[in-house]
Amino acid sequence: MADEKVIAVVGATGAQGGGLVRAIAADPGGGFKARAITRDPSSDGAKALADLGAEVVQADLEDPAGIDAAFAGAYGAFCVTFFWVDFSPETEMRHAQTMAAAAKSGGVQHVVWSTLEDTRRFVPLSDDRMPTLQGKYKVPHFDGKEDADAAFRDAGVPTTLLRTAFYWENLIYFGLGPKRGEDGTLSFTYCMGDKRLPAIGVEDIGRIAYGVFKRPDLIGETVSVMGEALTGAQMAEKLSKALGEPVAYNDVDPDVYRSFGFPGADELGNMFQFKRDFEAEYTGARDTGVARSLDPELQDFDAWLAANAKKIPLE
Ligand SMILES: NC(=O)c1ccc[n+]([C@@H]2O[C@H](COP(=O)([O-])OP(=O)(O)OC[C@H]3O[C@@H](n4cnc5c(N)ncnc54)[C@H](OP(=O)(O)O)[C@@H]3O)[C@@H](O)[C@H]2O)c1
Repeated sequence: MADEKVIAVVGATGAQGGGLVRAIAADPGGGFKARAITRDPSSDGAKALADLGAEVVQADLEDPAGIDAAFAGAYGAFCVTFFWVDFSPETEMRHAQTMAAAAKSGGVQHVVWSTLEDTRRFVPLSDDRMPTLQGKYKVPHFDGKEDADAAFRDAGVPTTLLRTAFYWENLIYFGLGPKRGEDGTLSFTYCMGDKRLPAIGVEDIGRIAYGVFKRPDLIGETVSVMGEALTGAQMAEKLSKALGEPVAYNDVDPDVYRSFGFPGADELGNMFQFKRDFEAEYTGARDTGVARSLDPELQDFDAWLAANAKKIPLE
């Protein structure tokens, strides 16, 4: 339809952006059309988006002119950064500035920026309960995102800050799911104590972002979402039922978690400790009611497990 509003989607072949493209495609009469941004339109992921009816365009966040062209004339832009590529909040800031400038020059009327809290507002660098990382962060992939909120504010683009949550997909793709011990039993290890971890199915983030684009009254607002917040013990109980065998939650001290040695262990140890120590502030800020009002299909953990438990690798 000629009068459809175009949403330029960064990270369209990825988790959050892909969910948004699929949400737009699932609502053909909704008045929106996705412009899927990828570095490689010939990839299988990009072709799958074209098959859904998305316009697929080539652009790279390392090339501001390309992002300018990709955002030009769009009504909306979904903006997300990719911390885990190089573990660099500075890269996230640079990419956010590129997207904000493109939104400004392209006349974009609604940006949804996928962001997170700056944990240093709660745990100042002087607080030695957790180590300072990269010289100036406590949880770099959180802190850098709120730093980058300023890029959109400073550019003066109409923006909704979408504060997301831990993906349950981390149990499948990020090594954070149950593992089989030498005794053959399954367990997963975080350092959340008995506190709740707010989390979400990543496909819901895309549907929520779509819901935000349909709500211009949310420009200038911060929308903080989750699908459900559960303790490790509650997650273990639900995983046990879904997988048909016992799964235990193994709680460790954050210092132990940080010492595990895999890339990012110190960062994830700080992240879980922040969520443990500031449960009231962090979990309390996230609202399933708001999330469901934007995404009526919002999944809780049981619903997510019903659709995804079989994909969890149980090595
Ligand atoms: N894991 C979690 O629990 C969690 C929770 C909340 C927030 N986050 C945040 O989510 C962010 C990542 O989002 P995601 O999970 O949706 O990412 P993702 O699934 O890893 O998607 C990455 C996509 O971005 C595109 N991309 C990568 N570098 C690019 C570049 N230079 N220019 C243009 N496109 C580029 C790639 O597409 P092409 O190859 O097609 O170009 C790729 O498909 C991270 O910053 C992370 O901190 C994660």
